Amino acid sequence: MGLTILGIESSCDDTGAAVVRQGAAGERVLSNVVMSQDRLHEAFGGVVPEIAARAHAEKLDLAVETALAEAGISFGDIDAIAVTAGPGLIGGVISGVMLAKGLALGAGKPLLGVNHLAGHALTPRLTDDLPYPYLALLVSGGHCQFLVVSGPDAFHRLGGTIDDAPGEAFDKIARALGLGQPGGPAVEAEAMRGDSARFNLPRPLLDREGCDMSFSGLKTAVIREIERLVATKGGISETDRADLAASFQTALADSLIAKSRSALDAYLATRPARPAFAVAGGVAANRTIRAGLDRAAKEAGARFVAPPLALCTDNAAMIGWAGIELYEAGHRSDLALIARPRWPLDQVQAPLIGAGRKGAKA
Ligand code: KG4
Ligand code: ZN
Repeated sequence: MGLTILGIESSCDDTGAAVVRQGAAGERVLSNVVMSQDRLHEAFGGVVPEIAARAHAEKLDLAVETALAEAGISFGDIDAIAVTAGPGLIGGVISGVMLAKGLALGAGKPLLGVNHLAGHALTPRLTDDLPYPYLALLVSGGHCQFLVVSGPDAFHRLGGTIDDAPGEAFDKIARALGLGQPGGPAVEAEAMRGDSARFNLPRPLLDREGCDMSFSGLKTAVIREIERLVATKGGISETDRADLAASFQTALADSLIAKSRSALDAYLATRPARPAFAVAGGVAANRTIRAGLDRAAKEAGARFVAPPLALCTDNAAMIGWAGIELYEAGHRSDLALIARPRWPLDQVQAPLIGAGRKGAKA
């Protein structure tokens, strides 16, 4: 029987534990427990790091017990423990790392420290057995970057956001338009009724080469339009709201898709045998964005892969899977494993400067 790994995730506002086993794609995730902290942070309009850390510390052991029970196995059946060791909100990461160290030490089992972003980037291998090297776009409330993934610890960053992450922009625009949180699905629903051509919004960095992105100017431009409407008409009508949502979504999608084309060009220049473009992160749920990325991949002659949403958003199954790949490649951590608030996947290039609502990006 293949390796069975317990994955632990606590880098942001979801407490996760999962059991993942080697085997055919589709049969690997034995359990995937995600305990959301959304309600704890609701009143604050964002994730409060200290509340997040305490809630992780309180819930992690329960998450692990539930994951083992749902997988129908006992702790003795686990071959190794994989834990997110960064990047993320440091208090939460420490909670997970301490628990994993305790379990590993107590049971004499191997420990693997996993980069949270590697978990996202390797998910298309968990779900679809995607062969290396592939191009990955991580796009969520806290991340936005293009990576060429050549192995479980081999990542080359082609570009990323220099300011906000797209999910963060969706959430802020939703708030400014008086829509609910999370903002992505709310803005998407509103946009369906709107005219995406009514407002002429910026598409920053499109005139620049490479695949770095910027979303903060677009967000500010939408907020200015709202302020202008309030000043001239005393408020925004239903139609204004839908048209603003549609114009914003189209501008953001245009930017992401145009930069995906640049990233695909750079990736294809390395002549991969079986070219593929994968997307992960909550924003991948957006139908306009997803369809545009699919189109860009097809036009470039690359296969397009978008894992199911439950494995695209923060979860511990992706950490368990990354643990399996790292274990196979001979990696092991020890009790000196540290929790890291920042941990760029690409260790060669200078880190990007953006830092999102959900903590530091890399
Ligand atoms: O990956 P995720 O669950 O958490 C992290 O940010 O790490 O992503 C959540 C983000 C939120 O900002 C949310 O508004 C956005 O993904 N999102 C969407 C959609 N569904 C979720 N953005 C645009 N369209 C959607 N349908
Ligand atoms: Zn994440």
